[in-house]
Amino acid sequence: MRCYWQPVALLDEFDPALDPRMASRPVKRVRMLGQDLVLFRDGTGRYGLLDRDCPHRGADLAFGRHEPEGLRCPFHGWKFAVDGRCLETPAEGVGSTLCARVRQRSYPVREQSGVLFAWFGPVGSTPPELPALDAFRAPPSHSFAFKGLWHCNWLQAFEVGIDPAHPSFLHRYLRDEQGGDAYGRQFRAASVGDVNGERWPMTRVMRERTSPEIRHEEIAPGLTRITALRIINDHLTHVRVTHALFPYTFVIPLSETVTITQMHVPVDDTHTYWYSFFTSFDKPLDKVTMRAQRLQGLSLPDYVPLHGAHDDWGFDPEEQRTRTYLGMGEEDINRHDQWAVESMGPIQDRTREHLGTSDKVIMANRRMLLKAIEQVQQGGRAPMALDAEQAAALTGPDTMDCIAPADRWDAFWREAAAAKRARAAWLSGSASALASSEAHR
Ligand code: FES
Ligand SMILES: [Fe+2]
Repeated sequence: MRCYWQPVALLDEFDPALDPRMASRPVKRVRMLGQDLVLFRDGTGRYGLLDRDCPHRGADLAFGRHEPEGLRCPFHGWKFAVDGRCLETPAEGVGSTLCARVRQRSYPVREQSGVLFAWFGPVGSTPPELPALDAFRAPPSHSFAFKGLWHCNWLQAFEVGIDPAHPSFLHRYLRDEQGGDAYGRQFRAASVGDVNGERWPMTRVMRERTSPEIRHEEIAPGLTRITALRIINDHLTHVRVTHALFPYTFVIPLSETVTITQMHVPVDDTHTYWYSFFTSFDKPLDKVTMRAQRLQGLSLPDYVPLHGAHDDWGFDPEEQRTRTYLGMGEEDINRHDQWAVESMGPIQDRTREHLGTSDKVIMANRRMLLKAIEQVQQGGRAPMALDAEQAAALTGPDTMDCIAPADRWDAFWREAAAAKRARAAWLSGSASALASSEAHR
């Protein structure tokens, strides 16, 4: 995990409109990879991420006084800049040089597509580049980032997203109509293409064709294409193409024009933040609406779901009998996934599971993970730890949900994906479209 930039906060979390405390004190406590950290923005707008225990006598810097030049420990007034330099040790008196000999561990932070990423590699090491994914290339108008906390290990969180069989069950609506505004909701949109002139919502395909043929292929080191084929009739096949990027990112279609790139970031062994990047290949996204809808299911400032184990995830047996397969609401399929991964327990006991052929992507992913761990332990480079050239070459990846002629489904989805890319104005520029800016390295 220390071979990759890790999302540590949404830029939104520093927006006083969402968290009024940020207007006067842009300081957040952060936990990542089992470490306690403090994230703050100084008076010049630079972000710093520091270990939380003050290097003097260990008091918690998350309670620090926010000053334009940095964060000051309230115990004895030591002050730290965003890069960890100690700026003052006021109790030491005139002439003390102690300050010059103290440095708090700091972690490089960069902003990308509405998210602050941090680098937790060894001191002085060079971070890899972020790949040139669509999610990172789209301009702010066409991208939206959101996150949420799950009370479970990151791997089981990731394994739900790369499981092409589960939408037929876990996310099944017993009927297609839905009241209310489903803007940006998964599986409600129609698949690309038609069945005898009729548009089919993804949810109908999933409900009526429950046993997909699953294919997976590592198309580049650490990049897996997952294809699920569902036969519609003699002439038509439903094709769903998604991708998994080592170690914990999937890229899936939300609709004909929007994709979701979702990362599963380890807070510690038993907590995970999912970070979703929504990317539009067509019109700008209505971020205000998307954010407001999603915030209804979470509590700020920590993006903790309102439903969970404490209330049986809002389970309603009557809904399960009449409206949905699961019985945990129609509005937010994220809650379905939350139940799946949290109800296994914080760390699933995998000695008790029985994998079938529909789990072959999960098996392949576990083999890849074990191999990568071994590779890194022997001093090798981890998959997806990219140098600049490799990162620039890793574009896309395409996603598709379409109904294709059975005899040429492979060509059909590729053509549909190319047509989608051709419509994206922001892709016609070159790498200059990169919406990247570095806050502090
Ligand atoms: S413990 Fe922080 S200044 Fe003394
Ligand atoms: Fe799901």
